[in-house]
Amino acid sequence: MKGLVYNGPRNVSVKEVPDAKIERPTDVLVKITSTNICGSDLHMYEGRTGVETGKVLGHENLGQVVEVGKAVDRIKRGDWVCMPFNISCGFCKNCEQGYTGSCLITNPGKAGAAYGYAEMGPYNGGQAEYLRVPYGDFNCLKLPDDAQEKETDYVMLADIFPTGWHATELAGVQPGDSVVIYGAGPVGLMAAYSAIIKGASKTMVIDRHPDRLRLAEQIGAIPIDDSKGSAADHVMEITAGEGADKGCECVGYQAHDPQGHERPNMTMNELVRTVRPTGGIGVVGVFVPQDPKAPDELSKRGGMAFDWGLFWSKAQRIGTGQAHVKAYNRQLRNLIHTGRAKPSFIVSHKLPLREAPQAYQHFDAREDGWTKVVLRPAA
Ligand SMILES: NC(=O)c1ccc[n+]([C@@H]2O[C@H](COP(=O)([O-])OP(=O)(O)OC[C@H]3O[C@@H](n4cnc5c(N)ncnc54)[C@H](O)[C@@H]3O)[C@@H](O)[C@H]2O)c1
Ligand SMILES: [Zn+2]
Ligand SMILES: [Zn+2]
Repeated sequence: MKGLVYNGPRNVSVKEVPDAKIERPTDVLVKITSTNICGSDLHMYEGRTGVETGKVLGHENLGQVVEVGKAVDRIKRGDWVCMPFNISCGFCKNCEQGYTGSCLITNPGKAGAAYGYAEMGPYNGGQAEYLRVPYGDFNCLKLPDDAQEKETDYVMLADIFPTGWHATELAGVQPGDSVVIYGAGPVGLMAAYSAIIKGASKTMVIDRHPDRLRLAEQIGAIPIDDSKGSAADHVMEITAGEGADKGCECVGYQAHDPQGHERPNMTMNELVRTVRPTGGIGVVGVFVPQDPKAPDELSKRGGMAFDWGLFWSKAQRIGTGQAHVKAYNRQLRNLIHTGRAKPSFIVSHKLPLREAPQAYQHFDAREDGWTKVVLRPAA
């Protein structure tokens, strides 16, 4: 089959790779019809992870079941399914509590597995014609009869819609809250969308890309362009000097200033400053324990100069980590099915798999108009 393979920094190509197949009786085999490129893929693409060459990337996957293992009960051939990016067992200590992003079984010695991702187990991704889904009964979300009609919405259930939702859950967003969100990439936009669905009174989104800020404005958020002056001052003004009730970090360890200089602690310290005393902060932007190509010694070891004193005095709270997609994907699917949510508003491109290498290039450059790419391996 064909798959998008990581060859090295800024070098991916579509190649013939070994067919995905049923390896264990609990596996399901899915023919992939939609698979997204994610901001998380860009950390690997840019050579900022330890991902091995030859790995098939792709963790935001949707398709139709073509084969099921002997021990699969619920999922049937022909079902349309969307897979959480997390691969989880369903029976370990963390899965039992709903923390499927930190499964203890699927990536032994670590907590949390994913398709086609650095440090997250030996699994190939779905930017390919077929995908092997371990523990298929647990990891496949069945889609309703409008699966194909709303495919571009449903594929956002694999990662970014639940991840944006998770950011607002970690922050503790309640109806009426003001919310500040750093990053207007796909994840930041989904966090803003989630805050608005939950009834936030004001949702402020900070970035410097006009196309992404326009999408934020389009869903009713307040766009703040930090290349045009201090975003923090702007947030304080909008919130009458108080700071936002809640804040979300949707950028991660490659945060930079508008001129492009990396400052890994920039968003975290600005959140502490712009969220009000006792407010909650949800961090879904990825931070890593080692980053050899970081701009300074502290960050190379996964550290950061964090304004702990201000954070402590403001009695704020922080929640972090990979999204536990299964905790939300069923409810969010129902919002899409009933027309209450349409996360595909961020999609700028739907392309065949063979155009993936160019798409990575454009999306990585955060080129104007490249807000989210859906690949269509079966097209
Ligand atoms: N926790 C999870 O489960 C999970 C899931 C998916 C993605 N992620 C992570 O979320 C982050 C965002 O993903 P994405 O797909 O939106 O990526 P993206 O790279 O497309 O978007 C990031 C955005 O942040 C902006 N930005 C950079 N520095 C900034 C700063 N200092 N202030 C404000 N904005 C700034 C960029 O201009 C860009 O638009 C990534 O780190 C990704 O790995 C985490
Ligand atoms: Zn993703
Ligand atoms: Zn588990």
